[in-house]
Amino acid sequence: MHNIPSLDELFERRQSYPDFEPQERLARLVGLDDQKSRLAKILGLMVNPQGLEKWATRFHAGEARPLLDVILRRPPLVVLAGDVGSGKTELAETIGDAVARQEDIEITLFPLSLATRGQGRVGEMTQLLSAAFEHTVQAANKLKGERKAKGGVILLVDEADALAQSREAAQMHHEDRAGVNAFIRGIDRLANLRLPAAVIMCTNRLNALDPAVRRRAADILTFTRPNKEQRQHILSLRLGPLGVTASQVQMLVEATGTAGDALGFTFSDLTQRLLPAIALDAYPNKPVEGARALQIAKEMKPTPAFRDEVLAEKAAR
Ligand SMILES: Nc1ncnc2c1ncn2[C@@H]1O[C@H](COP(=O)(O)OP(=O)(O)O)[C@@H](O)[C@H]1O
Ligand SMILES: [Mg+2]
Repeated sequence: MHNIPSLDELFERRQSYPDFEPQERLARLVGLDDQKSRLAKILGLMVNPQGLEKWATRFHAGEARPLLDVILRRPPLVVLAGDVGSGKTELAETIGDAVARQEDIEITLFPLSLATRGQGRVGEMTQLLSAAFEHTVQAANKLKGERKAKGGVILLVDEADALAQSREAAQMHHEDRAGVNAFIRGIDRLANLRLPAAVIMCTNRLNALDPAVRRRAADILTFTRPNKEQRQHILSLRLGPLGVTASQVQMLVEATGTAGDALGFTFSDLTQRLLPAIALDAYPNKPVEGARALQIAKEMKPTPAFRDEVLAEKAAR
């Protein structure tokens, strides 16, 4: 028998909601209102299906049962897919706060990142996933209530690109396939037990999403690079108060967008690279200045596309 990693080893950064810190981080995400509201609703129903029954009683008397069944029978999985640095992890780590407030119950997040799996021993990803689902089932079991659950658990499987690789892909390593199977078994187990638990899976590679995983997803939310309005919002909020003029911000918005075949900046390119670079260029002896900020933006290269994204763009043309 393998040693099952303990709850603390597996999920060092467990988070409980409601909590004001994730609430603030959630509020800071720009242009994701649609994803936020869809995700909060889906997760809300998974951890608290009575909410939907209340709604049905209120608006449709007893007539909604057949409709409720199809909604409530969906497997408890939501996939967040899309570009690097587009807010998937940030949303996944903070949406529990919206769910907790909306459903008026305590939610716990179990965050598991598969990013570093590569260095692991053979079988490690499979073991991690099995253990993660085991802990999730145990925790959710304790929260199962007579009518309404006493709380809910969200298992976050982040950086799950290895799981997104299709099982059909010939080049897929045997070990990865075992990982996908462990993931699918876990989802099915949660679904069958009807526990107040849901799984969020984040991946950069939607196109390679395994068909068996895709089929189980109650919803797939996609994330893209920020559009003009979103870039404008992020940049003007931070640079406007420093005296960068509206037309200079506008030029920055243009300089950080798509140009011909080249992709524009990602959200994290803006918040974690460009804005800090602009500030640190001026620091410590000068103020931030619009013209210099524009020059810095023009010299900076946005994060290259994931291969998936290139293919998607080509297909869209
Ligand atoms: N929609 C957004 N609005 C504002 N900032 C964002 C947004 N998306 C991402 N960011 C910034 O980029 C950083 C990286 O986002 P993250 O969620 O880690 O991206 P990924 O999609 O790769 O998981 C976040 O910490 C945040 O500062
Ligand atoms: Mg991420």
